[in-house]
Amino acid sequence: MEPLLRVRSLSVTFPTLYGPFEAVSDLDLDLAPGERVALMGESGCGKSVLGHAIIGLMSDVADVRGLIEYRGRDLCRMSEEEVRRIRGASIGLIPQSPGSALDPVLRVGRQIDEMYVLIEGKGQKEAKVLTIKRLNDVGFDDPEETYDTYPHRMSGGMCERALIAMGTALDPDLLVADEPTKGLDPESKMHVIDQLMERATGKTLLLITHDYYVAAACDRVVVMYSGQIIEDGPAHIVLTAPRHPYVIGLWQALPENGLRPMPGTMDRDKTANCRFMNRCPFRDEKCHTPQELREIGDAHLVRCCHA
Ligand SMILES: Nc1ncnc2c1ncn2[C@@H]1O[C@H](COP(=O)(O)OP(=O)(O)OP(=O)(O)O)[C@@H](O)[C@H]1O
Ligand SMILES: [Mg+2]
Repeated sequence: MEPLLRVRSLSVTFPTLYGPFEAVSDLDLDLAPGERVALMGESGCGKSVLGHAIIGLMSDVADVRGLIEYRGRDLCRMSEEEVRRIRGASIGLIPQSPGSALDPVLRVGRQIDEMYVLIEGKGQKEAKVLTIKRLNDVGFDDPEETYDTYPHRMSGGMCERALIAMGTALDPDLLVADEPTKGLDPESKMHVIDQLMERATGKTLLLITHDYYVAAACDRVVVMYSGQIIEDGPAHIVLTAPRHPYVIGLWQALPENGLRPMPGTMDRDKTANCRFMNRCPFRDEKCHTPQELREIGDAHLVRCCHA
């Protein structure tokens, strides 16, 4: 099956005070139509940068290289206007931190209306009807009241559901959701995931999360480390029988598995053959050779010579 999204040799580099910093390195990723993929990995590994690059929302200072193809067309080579049309209508984003993603001085409904008015050219009245329907779809009991509410009067879970309504307003075929359950209590978390999964039915979902149980709601799990994909496979395999030492360590750090935190921090050095080597309990001389992402089982890829 042709992938809906094809990323090839993607690198994103930022200029910093200490010189160029490569946040995403030579990354390949295919997303098939209808696939639900969890993107995981520790803070700073490049998940949001990858998500933003996919949706064409990188800042001008970033140097973006490689290919990002949506339905066979390279997003990096489209005009600003074309990317703007695709964003929202074909690729939706549910951004990280709902606190800053919603405008505090605009009523929630008016912010969602903008999707219909600015991208689809609908009139204000029609936009309001569609927004209220969407708010109803994501589980607000009184969508008319929510429409007129300011974000600061809503809980974190409510803001997150409003962002799901906004990101899915135009029924995009690809939805990138960046940590939609961060900071939510367990009950709101499951409610938000249920709504997200329902809205994403039949669509392709890239769900960025630190949460093991949220990832378990996906078909496939991709784990990044220091700008690279280090493990990629069916969710039930990566979550229960991971093969990369970092992923093994990550699940061991879960409270129910004994809360054994992984020692060390992510190395900012991008030249090592294995970027995890300085923390790895299995390291030996073989780690000094280039480590490619290789298939070790059916659709299961790992970047480690010991896997
Ligand atoms: N505009 C920028 N300028 C310089 N460096 C940046 C910029 N944006 C991101 N980075 C760096 O790129 C790396 C990846 O950032 P990113 O936001 O993708 O991490 P993340 O995996 O989403 O982390 P988290 O789980 O905390 O959200 C980090 O080291 C970050 O400091
Ligand atoms: Mg992030």
